[in-house]
Amino acid sequence: MNPDIPLQLLGGLTAREFLRDYWQKKPLLVRQAMPDFENPISPDELAGLALEEEVESRLVLEHGERPWELRRGPFAEDAFAHLPERDWTLLVQAVDQFVPEVGELLEPFNFLPKWRIDDVMVSFATPGGGVGPHFDNYDVFLLQGHGKRRWQIGQTCNSESPLLEHADLKILAEFDKTEEWVLEPGDMLYLPPLLAHCGTAEDDCMTYSVGFRAPSAAEVLTHFTDFLGQFLPDEERYSDADAQPTSDPHQIQRDSLDRLKNLLNEHMGDERLLMTWFGQFMTEPRYPELIGGIEMDEGVFLGNLQDGAVLIRNPSARLAWSEVGEDLVLFASGQSRLLPANLRELLKLICAADALHSDNLDQWLSDDTGRNLLWELVKQGSLEFANE
Ligand code: SIN
Ligand code: CO
Repeated sequence: MNPDIPLQLLGGLTAREFLRDYWQKKPLLVRQAMPDFENPISPDELAGLALEEEVESRLVLEHGERPWELRRGPFAEDAFAHLPERDWTLLVQAVDQFVPEVGELLEPFNFLPKWRIDDVMVSFATPGGGVGPHFDNYDVFLLQGHGKRRWQIGQTCNSESPLLEHADLKILAEFDKTEEWVLEPGDMLYLPPLLAHCGTAEDDCMTYSVGFRAPSAAEVLTHFTDFLGQFLPDEERYSDADAQPTSDPHQIQRDSLDRLKNLLNEHMGDERLLMTWFGQFMTEPRYPELIGGIEMDEGVFLGNLQDGAVLIRNPSARLAWSEVGEDLVLFASGQSRLLPANLRELLKLICAADALHSDNLDQWLSDDTGRNLLWELVKQGSLEFANE
């Protein structure tokens, strides 16, 4: 993808300009980011998803049993029958995994790393509905899909920003509105992390939120050190073979701290392990249970491809690849595989995984490692045969 081509999605900015001037920095309103937008899922279908066991959904009622009442799905069939006429919203997470047409909305965002994208959350709101003034820790592109929504933006927040005393929702106690716009279908608002915002439905409306994932510093440290710990033998310890006589046996001297820092730096700086951990962590699926995998022997696998079957990414799987020294690594739904450098094009093909078939896989099926990798990914569940 050429980063210097103006994109309609970004209101005529190039990917390079958007990343330089807006990404993680300031909001951007784009009128008709997706012109002639066709709403890919109806309110009824969204409500249907909210009944499913494996789907995360929430209902927020501004004037419920208490102000800003939060109800969590899965919902019973009659849950929507007794709701008030206005001031409520239904939010469904990761709809891209369940509705392919919603997954396709992610295509124009290809100028950003796929592994940074979390999901597409879809909301349906009745007039006046919304989740109140709040901030998110992640970037978000809010695409208006149906009806009109008024978006207001405010101050930059942090974890100290005062919140309403509220058990379920993190609603800001103060909101200093700086700008507001009414979005219509096809319009989009990009918001950087921590910016206060408040979206209120003007009429029955649907909003598609393309959300991102970024591990917190605390997560990086705790998860990476847990990962590292598995590779370190018990006998590797704090050591002080260079110790000097101590003047006060109760004092922890500065040189002890230096030894500790050396120990930490030696392991934390292991780029191979850091990349392996990071790729595994960033490709961990939201719903691992939806990546079941199957038993399939190699003959059946190859036979299917020869008969014209098409392999696609399991919509719940996450794939990425990277270089580690001279080798390559494929990350597939939280697992990593070290592979030789000659498989580079295959890894790109697998990660794109729109449609893999005997024609575009031809050269790889005659390569033992390549063929085996594809077969393993089908057994693991990250790739699956498309139902024709
Ligand atoms: C919504 O779609 O109602 C909420 C999106 C957000 O503010 O993060
Ligand atoms: Co938000």
